[in-house]
Amino acid sequence: MTSIKHRIPEGEAINDSMEITMEQYSEIMKKQLGKEYEKFSDNIIKRIKPGKNFKILEIGPGPGWAGISLLKKRPDLVLEGLEASSDMIRVAGKNADREGVSARCSYKNGVVEDMRTLNSSVYDLVISRDSMHHWTDPEKAFSEIKRVLKPEGKLYIHDSRRDMNLFGKLIVNISSRFIPNNMGKYWKSSIAASYTPKEIEELLNRIKYDKWSVSSDFMDLQITKI
Ligand SMILES: C[S@@+](CC[C@H](N)C(=O)[O-])C[C@H]1O[C@@H](n2cnc3c(N)ncnc32)[C@H](O)[C@@H]1O
Repeated sequence: MTSIKHRIPEGEAINDSMEITMEQYSEIMKKQLGKEYEKFSDNIIKRIKPGKNFKILEIGPGPGWAGISLLKKRPDLVLEGLEASSDMIRVAGKNADREGVSARCSYKNGVVEDMRTLNSSVYDLVISRDSMHHWTDPEKAFSEIKRVLKPEGKLYIHDSRRDMNLFGKLIVNISSRFIPNNMGKYWKSSIAASYTPKEIEELLNRIKYDKWSVSSDFMDLQITKI
């Protein structure tokens, strides 16, 4: 049996740096992960019935591509993004504008662990893609998510899993060589900062969240509440 490496936390917000601006980050992400964003939004659409003024909260939208993909497919949805980085907010706003969905979305600066600027029981759905591994206090984060979700609200969170198998590691090692601006390095550090499905299950049990389930494939994990 292979042992699972200890988690190596990453910082919270991703900001402009000497190496890369968030405009450059956004373009690289769109080119590299375009299909993944589509898959993410398709997976969500399968889980939600069309509804009037269906209100979504996206945690850590970064350049916004995942939520934008969802809004383009479903005109009945409105989305608010809560993002730790003001540089990302600048870029997400521009992307939403260019993609013609800015009338149905807005982005706000803040962190998931402390969402006191958001009212309780207001969202029909909370989503997040590849942000959870940055969260400094996931227990607090899930309590806050539970508070802002309507009682019957749904959840879809997607992230890497740190305990990926050898095949997953091989894919990461090979693919990361072809990602520009040294971003392959960040992909690897985000995997090292991510959780295992078991750790997430234990966390959800600890805070007594029922109806939430954790599923996984060889590279990623999802947390859903149906
Ligand atoms: C790896 S990026 C993923 C961005 C986007 N969801 C995607 O899939 O392209 C993680 C994002 O989460 C944001 N973030 C990190 N910690 C956060 C927190 N505690 N609350 C809200 N956003 C956070 C970062 O600033 C960054 O934009």
